Amino acid sequence: MPTRRHFLQATTAGLAASAFAAQDQPDKPVSPNDRIRVALIGAGGMGTEDAKSSLEIPGVELAAVSDIYQGRLTRARERWGHQLITTRDYRAVLERRDIDAVLIATPDHWHAQISIDAMNAGKDVYCEKPMAQRVEDGRRVVEAQKKTGRIMQVGSQRVSSIIYKKAQELLQSGAIGELNLVEAWWDRNSAIGAWEYSIPPDATPENIDWDRFLGYAPKVPFEPVRLFRWRDYRDYGTGVAGDLFVHLFSGMHFVTGAIGPTRVFATGGLRFWKDGRDVPDVFLGLYDYPAGNGHPAFNLALRVNFVSGAGETSGFRFVGSEGILTIGGGVTVSKTPRETEPGYTIDTFPKAVQEAFLKEYYKQYPPQVPKADSMRPLQEDKYLPPHGYSDHLDHHRNFIAAVRSRKTVVEDPVFGLRAAGPALLSNISYFEQRMCSWDPETMTLKT
Ligand SMILES: NC(=O)c1ccc[n+]([C@@H]2O[C@H](COP(=O)([O-])OP(=O)(O)OC[C@H]3O[C@@H](n4cnc5c(N)ncnc54)[C@H](O)[C@@H]3O)[C@@H](O)[C@H]2O)c1
Repeated sequence: MPTRRHFLQATTAGLAASAFAAQDQPDKPVSPNDRIRVALIGAGGMGTEDAKSSLEIPGVELAAVSDIYQGRLTRARERWGHQLITTRDYRAVLERRDIDAVLIATPDHWHAQISIDAMNAGKDVYCEKPMAQRVEDGRRVVEAQKKTGRIMQVGSQRVSSIIYKKAQELLQSGAIGELNLVEAWWDRNSAIGAWEYSIPPDATPENIDWDRFLGYAPKVPFEPVRLFRWRDYRDYGTGVAGDLFVHLFSGMHFVTGAIGPTRVFATGGLRFWKDGRDVPDVFLGLYDYPAGNGHPAFNLALRVNFVSGAGETSGFRFVGSEGILTIGGGVTVSKTPRETEPGYTIDTFPKAVQEAFLKEYYKQYPPQVPKADSMRPLQEDKYLPPHGYSDHLDHHRNFIAAVRSRKTVVEDPVFGLRAAGPALLSNISYFEQRMCSWDPETMTLKT
């Protein structure tokens, strides 16, 4: 279906004169030809952030908002004005020819279907992570994007982060030698951190389109907690793996160039937040990454603990033969050179054997009196981003730039599925109590 943007592209020549004139107007720094009209589908916490970041980019207008809870539509109009088109049915947004792109921030079980419907309707798509709730749906998204040629960005903003870019450059330049292990974690210790979000007092069947929330999930009677705390239920969410591991996978894939593990094992349990949820609150994953794409084989260990006993912390530790690179608020490279002597463990040998051993040892490593200038330096280099830096804004900038230029985004559906796939397999491993084999190239579960 042709959209307003198609129309504008097709008539660029005709509009050129008026576009230049418009650019000259001080109150219109972006030409009408460069205006992008976006719609938000799913106006909860993250959708609101997505719309806000989008609106910071010159030329972006928020034209419509769709949500199945009336309160969020009311709030959207309070926030962005009463000119906003609002609807409970996202398909009404997709039918509009004056919308160029959609921001999808619904619960996970709707991501793939709305992305596919949007691309088929000629819209460009920014879809929140994880790209899909099931691997097979992720592959349908990849196919739809290829078939339609629409721009699609998956919303794991670390892929656009200057912090992760710095880590990538340092790793590639050999700052920590040869990589052998990556550890990453995301720990929390609060009710909201553990997804116990507020339930509004006006959560009634009149204010909520319950069937449209459920979608292809099993039909269950109206129960607001399942909507407002959808992450707690496997029917709509993807557990901590799809919620948080997926950020760690996408960030790590970006830094290392890896495309995914071949073996996946996860364990954990529901230890504390026993509020009716059917997913664990402590979760550990182990992953084997084969060599490829300029990186050696390495192992990955991930952890999420919602009962951490302390505040929220998250980070990365890349371990190499020559040092350690950590990502927290910035990037740190620490190196402690190895001792030049191997040392010895001879105390349990007979005296004569010890003497013979030491004679040989000192031939190779003559005894030396320790001196100040022979001490090994511990090097630590820290790189910090500018104050207030937002990778989320950069990720949206990248998307909008691609909508304008029709060039590639940093996180296309293939990248998105290569990050979501091992997260989804972690759930399979945990719930089916088995190891999973994954082909990261074809993005298929082998066993
Ligand atoms: N990139 C990030 O850092 C980040 C952070 C948080 C959340 N997220 C992702 O964003 C998505 C939304 O999470 P959230 O925390 O904003 O959840 P939320 O519950 O606050 O918002 C989801 C919204 O979608 C609406 N909705 C449900 N079904 C719908 C449908 N069929 N059509 C239209 N609207 C529908 C709900 O009513 C709700 O308002 C999730 O997929 C989550 O993984 C990403």
